[in-house]
Amino acid sequence: MNPTVHFASDNYAAVHPEVMAAMAQANTGHDVAYGADAATAAFDAAIASTFGEHALGFPVFNGTGANIVSLMALSPRWGGVVASEHAHIHNDENGAPERVGGLKILPLASADGRLAPEQLARYAGDLGDPHRAQPVVLSVTQATELGTVYSLEEMAELTYAAHELGMRVHMDGARLANAAAALGATLSEAARGADLLSLGGTKNGAMLGEAVVILAEDLRDSLGHDLPYLRKSTMQLGSKMRYVSAQLTALLTSTDVTGDPLWHRNASHANAMATRLREALAPLAEAGELRFTQETQANAVFVELPRAAADAVRSAFRFYDWQPGTAPGSVEARWMCAWDTSPADVDGFAAAVTGALERANGAR
Ligand SMILES: Cc1ncc(COP(=O)(O)O)c(C=O)c1O
Repeated sequence: MNPTVHFASDNYAAVHPEVMAAMAQANTGHDVAYGADAATAAFDAAIASTFGEHALGFPVFNGTGANIVSLMALSPRWGGVVASEHAHIHNDENGAPERVGGLKILPLASADGRLAPEQLARYAGDLGDPHRAQPVVLSVTQATELGTVYSLEEMAELTYAAHELGMRVHMDGARLANAAAALGATLSEAARGADLLSLGGTKNGAMLGEAVVILAEDLRDSLGHDLPYLRKSTMQLGSKMRYVSAQLTALLTSTDVTGDPLWHRNASHANAMATRLREALAPLAEAGELRFTQETQANAVFVELPRAAADAVRSAFRFYDWQPGTAPGSVEARWMCAWDTSPADVDGFAAAVTGALERANGAR
């Protein structure tokens, strides 16, 4: 068996044909480099219609870059960034916020990837203390690294609490589309409360491309001035920007016959496939053969299962271990669905998991 669909990451997915078509459309003749091109003008308009006339978007290459540019834009040299202990900026960017940005990440414990407003007190007392990195930014991830989603109310309360403490709020929206689709919200509603957004494209059907989006009206002039310099000096300025812009515009504006935009179609499909996988595995969880470790609110399913079973499934499907399991000989795995994961792919994967668990338990 040689499946071409894996459950490791939404980054494994192919590029959506509508994104490819948009890139092909941008691929005519010469146009101005570094962003003064027609496709980037269309992207600017798409950002304004998605997030409001005051919003300003800056295309970048990748999510780590979007996060670093954002955090540097919001922090002085003595700044610290409060984030969940599971945050991508804390665990999965090779220390780039520290190395490139010169910022200290100030982690907070979180069982499910989300933070609660009262947790901010942990660092609030450091404000004004010259011995402590100043907690000037809160970075939240929506949807979280653990596949959970802040409700609109939770996000409003958390970002309000941060602003009350004088912090600015950055949102890592690598999967903002999945969160918005799960919430039945617009992208703008799902990002509400954030001052600066890392808007994801790659996991949502793009080839490569994300954007830093200024959402706070009071930051538009100052950050609008700073960001072009910051983006270049952090190596995130694309010369042939039209190709990145065209992808993001396609996600934001390309609609089907019902008027459903591509970002939403892709994200709601990926979320639905994760729900389908969870439902297919539910009898195994009820029988105690595996354990769901997180809620499935977006496009990820987190499970603990015997390592032997996980390794057997892995011989056909790629996926990552998240961490060792709590039970001896077990592992916690993350199974992710993407815009191009089909129901048949999910059913085949669930059957492989079922078979591997039967064999693992038979061998006990
Ligand atoms: C929550 C989150 N933020 C940001 C990123 C961006 O990563 P990259 O720099 O690989 O595009 C990822 C990718 O896995 C992610 O999961």
